[in-house]
Amino acid sequence: MSKRVFIKTFGCQMNERDSEIMEQLLASCGYVSVFDMEEADFVLLNTCSIRAKAEQKVFSLLGQLRKQKIRNPGLLVGVAGCVAQQEGRKIFKRMPHVDLVVGTQQFYQLPSMLMRLEKGESNREISCNLESSFTIPPFQKYYLGQEGQAPSPAPADRHGLVEFSKFVTIMQGCNNFCSYCVVPHTRGREVSRRISDIVEEVTLLVSRGAKEITLLGQNVNSYGSTNPVADTTTGFADLLRRVAEIPGIKRLRFTSSNPQDLSACLMQCFKDIDILCPHFHLPAQSGSNSVLKKMGRKYTRELYLEKVEELRSYCPEIALSTDIIVGFPGESDQDFEQTMGLLRTVRYHGSFSFKYSDRPGTRSADFDQKVDENIKGERLQCFQKEQDRISLERNQEMVDRTMEVMIEHNQDGTIKSRTSSNHIVHFTSPLPMVPGDLCQVRITHAGMHSLNGEYCSM
Ligand code: 5AD
Ligand code: SF4
Repeated sequence: MSKRVFIKTFGCQMNERDSEIMEQLLASCGYVSVFDMEEADFVLLNTCSIRAKAEQKVFSLLGQLRKQKIRNPGLLVGVAGCVAQQEGRKIFKRMPHVDLVVGTQQFYQLPSMLMRLEKGESNREISCNLESSFTIPPFQKYYLGQEGQAPSPAPADRHGLVEFSKFVTIMQGCNNFCSYCVVPHTRGREVSRRISDIVEEVTLLVSRGAKEITLLGQNVNSYGSTNPVADTTTGFADLLRRVAEIPGIKRLRFTSSNPQDLSACLMQCFKDIDILCPHFHLPAQSGSNSVLKKMGRKYTRELYLEKVEELRSYCPEIALSTDIIVGFPGESDQDFEQTMGLLRTVRYHGSFSFKYSDRPGTRSADFDQKVDENIKGERLQCFQKEQDRISLERNQEMVDRTMEVMIEHNQDGTIKSRTSSNHIVHFTSPLPMVPGDLCQVRITHAGMHSLNGEYCSM
């Protein structure tokens, strides 16, 4: 009987993508995926440590797994991803029932690690090279293939299904070192993949039925700049144009961008590439210049607003979203008001907002003037309430408009779909439709987080 694996993914889309690859690697050594953790012979947590809360969730699930392992002593427990990279072998001390710790750039070694574990090698030995894993860029090695070999194939579709929407990682790591951020520590320095390999992967995914492609990187705007790869000429905009030419893609998206590197070249793509979706996630983090400076962000509020205006001049209908941190060390009431002001000026379609938390190894963890947890909570609530009000207003502006949506889910004609600007639309369909199909709907009602519509035509 084949072995059963349950992979639980925490955190970002990048992690989702890595989980897919791990699933494929495990399938190649006889594991099938199961949806119920209790049924698994191997539980693998692909973890996130971006905020303290994300990490707490991982340790709480590991606590639960301790009990599962008592009931089923043969169970293997693995920790991959950012917490694994950050904590390394310390995890074995804190959670002795863990069998395997797999760093962010080691996951391609999973099959050989499991084999060594089965042969009785100690888990500490197997997981030992976490600290040195950034010295070689295994990301390149995995995706590009070992010397002389063809690039590794694109991943199999999850659970054997053709998925209409696929993520493609175009670069790993980050060189920005924002003072609050653990990512350069957990994912290492920036490494870009070759355009030709990305194009090959996207082509394969589209040939298997993908209709929507999202290109992923911590800061896509610096694609190709830190380790100039042979076939990149003008960086990310060039890559976008190349990918957009692949026949069969209906929608192209990307995330995420750093405001200071947002170039006119990239903005021009919104004019030229018709399948590029008019949605831009542009993390501001704060609206206060003094906080931005302490965060190590390399732009001011003024520059940020200039970029927003410029972007809108290229693509007037573009929907903007952002990330905001409230309660950064030293953030005063006035600083927070500046963030509220930014929200009201840009009128984001949506945002992700978080209470600041100290992360190990980051500069801001050592800053003084930490903000009281209650004040952070009040500021978060205040921000989110205003965002909700603005989102509703923005959504109401869409009522009566006819828009193209892509089907995501169809349950007996009750459909969940998405506009190219990334708004969710619910409607009922008179025709059979499958995920990835496009059709026209007229928006009839706006809620805070989604829209309702009626079917118009295919
Ligand atoms: N505390 C709170 N939020 C954080 N983020 C990153 N690091 C921290 C931290 N230490 C947020 C940022 C980032 C998003 C992915 O997570 O807003 O853009
Ligand atoms: Fe979390 Fe960042 Fe790691 Fe993604 S890269 S899993 S958001 S810590």
